Amino acid sequence: MPQSKIAGTGFYVPQNAVSNNDLTKYMDTSDEWIQERTGIKERRYAHRTNETTTTMAVEASKIAIERAGITPQDIDFIVFATLSPDYYFPGCGVLLQRAMQMKEIGALDIRNQCSGFVYALSVADQFIKTGMYKNILVVGSEKHSFGLDFSTRGRNVSVIFGDGAGAVVLQPTTKEGQGILSTHLHSDGESAEILAMYNPGTHANHWLPQKLADFDEAEIGEMFFSHDMIDKAQVFPNMDGPAVFKKAVVKFPEVIMEALTANNLTPADITVLIPHQANLRIAEFVQKKLGLSNEQVYNNIQKYGNTTAASVPIALCEAWEAGKIKEGDLVCLAAFGSGFTWASALVRW
Ligand code: UT7
Repeated sequence: MPQSKIAGTGFYVPQNAVSNNDLTKYMDTSDEWIQERTGIKERRYAHRTNETTTTMAVEASKIAIERAGITPQDIDFIVFATLSPDYYFPGCGVLLQRAMQMKEIGALDIRNQCSGFVYALSVADQFIKTGMYKNILVVGSEKHSFGLDFSTRGRNVSVIFGDGAGAVVLQPTTKEGQGILSTHLHSDGESAEILAMYNPGTHANHWLPQKLADFDEAEIGEMFFSHDMIDKAQVFPNMDGPAVFKKAVVKFPEVIMEALTANNLTPADITVLIPHQANLRIAEFVQKKLGLSNEQVYNNIQKYGNTTAASVPIALCEAWEAGKIKEGDLVCLAAFGSGFTWASALVRW
């Protein structure tokens, strides 16, 4: 049975860099607070009208495909992870297929937020292993800037997120020990609402946090969006940051150790850990807990903020471009986020 190898990586971030100080024009926040709590110095925002989740994905994909030594017409399956699609439906997979003039291949959209890319990689890995596909494009792309609450009310969320895209091409390899060694996927929906965007949605109001759920029953089911939803911030991402933080620092090390144990490896064997870029403090906690050196962990949240499904492939590509990942190296990808969902992948480059 073939293993899947990452044959090419690419990433794209918009030109527009937005500093922490820039955000103070819209909300009560400060460079000091943001850097101290998250490590973020700046993030990129896509052009309001000319750039979308799909157009950014196209740019990242072009690079990954070229580096894999193939053309868009060679791609035989797309797996696209995003929480900020161009349309509520259809998903971005078909838009990418159209934009890149690919053949009439399968296109699958993944909705697993921060873990989306690792989930997508795992799905693609299964198709390669069974021999069904030979060139799979796996993408994570996000345009968060279109839908954040930039008032002080939404500051705990809006200062964190940024826009960007990352992509890889998966191909089969028969080289002994090379490629994706294993992937590990998890979920726990018990606290689904504490990091969520509720609308548009078909949810029952009783699941929403009390402060946001105070609704006129007659309105429910009658409309997709209402002024009331906007007034109550139900159309923006909502997050109980400290609760997410507490869970993340447990699940990140757990799912990384699960991957290592499954392959009879230890943290010392990791060449580079690419954690989802949620918060520099979380990544530092994970590093310490696993006893990893600075060289063993790659972070770039300082420049791009949290780009959700795009953060792992962007960081992976940047680390590779910086020469930090070479043939034979052991790369660990790990993510945790909304759902909750969390996941890891261990790759022998
Ligand atoms: O990628 C998806 C997964 N997401 C995560 O993993 C995020 C996990 N959580 C976090 O990263 C952190 O919880 C945050 C960065 C979101 C927040 O940091 P925190 O240290 O947990 O702060 P907090 O939410 O406990 O808020 C502390 C204070 C509050 O004020 P009071 O009540 O102490 O007066 C907040 O209102 O900081 C205030 N605050 C802010 N102040 C300035 C919240 N956001 C901001 C802000 N600027 N942007």
